[in-house]
Amino acid sequence: MDTYILGIESSCDDTSAAIIKGTTLCSNIIAGQKVHEQYGGVVPELASRSHLQNIIPVIDTAIKNANIQKSNIHAIAFTRGPGLLGSLLVGTSFAKGLSMSLNIPLIEVDHLQAHVLSHFIKLPDIQNETPSFPFLCLTVSGGHTQILKINDYFDFEIIGQTIDDAAGEAFDKVAKIMGLPYPGGPNIDKLAKEGNPHAFKFSEANMPHFNFSFSGLKTSFLYFLRDQLKTDDSFIEKNRADLAASIQYAIIHSLTKKLILAARHHKISQIAIAGGVSANSELRNTLTKIAKQEKWELFLPPFQFTTDNAAMIAIAGYFKYQKRDFCKLDATPYTRYDQK
Ligand code: KG4
Ligand code: ZN
Repeated sequence: MDTYILGIESSCDDTSAAIIKGTTLCSNIIAGQKVHEQYGGVVPELASRSHLQNIIPVIDTAIKNANIQKSNIHAIAFTRGPGLLGSLLVGTSFAKGLSMSLNIPLIEVDHLQAHVLSHFIKLPDIQNETPSFPFLCLTVSGGHTQILKINDYFDFEIIGQTIDDAAGEAFDKVAKIMGLPYPGGPNIDKLAKEGNPHAFKFSEANMPHFNFSFSGLKTSFLYFLRDQLKTDDSFIEKNRADLAASIQYAIIHSLTKKLILAARHHKISQIAIAGGVSANSELRNTLTKIAKQEKWELFLPPFQFTTDNAAMIAIAGYFKYQKRDFCKLDATPYTRYDQK
């Protein structure tokens, strides 16, 4: 019999619900929150309120679009962390209430594991390839930047990670310095298409092993602009595309050089990327070129699974359902791993 899992994601500023049948996606509804744009970043209290407004219509639409009834759902998977507490509380509480009322199991999902497991979602009528174990995954989001060795669905080893800012955070911060709206990543991506990536050079950090650091890059961008603006107050305006392309180049180069080293060192040629920054068109192009040179089998997630979505929570829930790995009704969210 096919298993229907409802996934609920509310860790940051996207309220999302999805239904998965086995590993095949039936629906994936995402309600973004425009309210944060004017503040240049996510305002946690406004995010929780928006989740409260969105969660019922989003879940209702996900069930309707999947052409099923509530009674067909076998289990509810929700994001337990990491993320913003107020945001996580909305999804967690709703998942608990619904699991009690439907008398079905509750499954807690780790947001980062879910980003990686999105590679196992099957799309209806499309034969998409899935990676085989072990593979490396560069997980690049607004909160995390890691190279992971994925040995099994829930057996992840951290090979390298950022010691300060995440790659998505770097995109968002440089975008903010340039006066672009939040989230900055997609805006830099768009602007960079018109610019020269070698117009300006920003110094990349030299981290040991497979680790990353982005805070120095952000500071060098800030100081460079501050100096230029002293003599030309329209410097940003005149050089928007070149600035976007050059800083994007530095971020992408920092990521890919470590990924190449990690893949060679671990002798792994199945390489995946996941997380919001994996939507970046230049990162995808660059990795596609590198994959040819390095003879990698490269897995780029479909765009709907790059930024936060509940389909990835549902697929992680499906694999846990197979193991009967359910959680108790007293589960509480964790905002960071040290609070788990
Ligand atoms: O995975 P995600 O939706 O949320 C977290 O778990 O953090 O990632 C959001 C991050 C933001 O920093 C956003 O600017 C970045 O992903 N992002 C991008 C692009 N689309 C989203 N960064 C660069 N290029 C993009 N096209
Ligand atoms: Zn995420």
